[in-house]
Amino acid sequence: MNAFDVLIIGAGAAGLMAAIRAGQRGRRVLVLDHAEAPGKKILISGGGRCNFTNRDIRPERFLSANPAFARSALARYTARDFLALIEKHRIAWHEKTLGQLFCDGSARQVVAMLLAEAEAVGVEIRLETRVTDITRGTDFTVTTDRGAFTAAALVLATGGLSIPKMGATGFAYDVAKRFGLGLVERRPGLVPFAFGGEELALMQPLAGVSLPILARAGGAKFPEAMLFTHRGLSGPAILQISSYWHPGEAITLDLLPGQDAISLLLAAKRARPKAEPRTALGELLPARLAQALAERHLPGMRMADLPDRALTGLANLLKSWRLTPATTEGYAKAEVTLGGVDTAALSQQTMMAKAVPGLFVVGEAVDVTGWLGGYNFQWAWASGWAAGEAA
Ligand code: FDA
Repeated sequence: MNAFDVLIIGAGAAGLMAAIRAGQRGRRVLVLDHAEAPGKKILISGGGRCNFTNRDIRPERFLSANPAFARSALARYTARDFLALIEKHRIAWHEKTLGQLFCDGSARQVVAMLLAEAEAVGVEIRLETRVTDITRGTDFTVTTDRGAFTAAALVLATGGLSIPKMGATGFAYDVAKRFGLGLVERRPGLVPFAFGGEELALMQPLAGVSLPILARAGGAKFPEAMLFTHRGLSGPAILQISSYWHPGEAITLDLLPGQDAISLLLAAKRARPKAEPRTALGELLPARLAQALAERHLPGMRMADLPDRALTGLANLLKSWRLTPATTEGYAKAEVTLGGVDTAALSQQTMMAKAVPGLFVVGEAVDVTGWLGGYNFQWAWASGWAAGEAA
């Protein structure tokens, strides 16, 4: 009774997609998960509306020690393929910004769709099941607190380390390592920055202020919104560069992207010499930020009192504010885990371990991490599909 063709550990985005595809191919599939419900991260994603893919998926928008690895799976199961599934299930959707596609209603619809597809092809899902051992003879045997199961194919789809309080574990890494697969160092990605000292003293009172910026780190740049928080900086621009940042490095922020700050400040001085610096600056930046920067960098009662040198200094800061985050807010706040199972150990066509026939690794557990904006789900769908085609 406990013999299957394919065992999948992890009923998240990638595991469910692998199950659906393998089931469609007539394979007998069992999905095991320790959680009490499937797809819990899908449910909380995109503010409850699930940013399920992006219209502009490109391999170079994924980080990995081998940037070419994701290309094959992404080309074979595309954003259009997933959108076709969404439309087949009559889930209303909209494009928000930058190609990001969301449900109009709720992320629950995406989970319900995946479960319906899985059920239609006879996939079995067992929840609240704890895996206690995995061995490999002719087949894989997965021992759990609810019995032992065997199959010739085993898919590791247990995701990454982000949001441990939701049950995220390093399970896939441990199992992969046990089977001799390499691991790329893990760190939190798409995560807010925390600051200390003077920088935090400036940022804390600004918590809640947001503005469009151009953020740069580790050779990447993102023109999106930034948000001040009680611990430092967040918002899409910051989350995006956090994936390119390494501890100890500086980030650079342009608070007036596309604008010539020095010309604007000198023009403001000429046009409104009697204006208070914070008022003049408030025409370029949110009022609270303008006030905080004016207090620190424009010592004077009126714009006319300020030497051009002071305005140039502030303009340079506005265009190229260099900051060194103390740290990130860690896995508790990270949307994804960078690093993971080394792609060198896997086939890019099938996600199968080259040295362990029958063992597959998919989704976030693999060292492939997308940008913010639906890229990580598309990787989960595409890598899950690739494994489901082959398992
Ligand atoms: P996922 O984490 O989805 O699934 C892993 C499954 O394995 C879970 O069901 C878990 O219970 C199970 N599991 C773990 N350890 C186990 C063990 N030891 N035994 C048995 N089962 C185990 N991405 C995106 O593209 N658009 C978005 O809108 C968002 N939004 C978002 C918001 C928040 C708050 C977070 C934290 C993340 C996002 N993401 C996102 C990222 C996205 O959620 C993530 O990349 C995918 O869920 C990864 O899919 P996986 O199937 O690989 O792992």
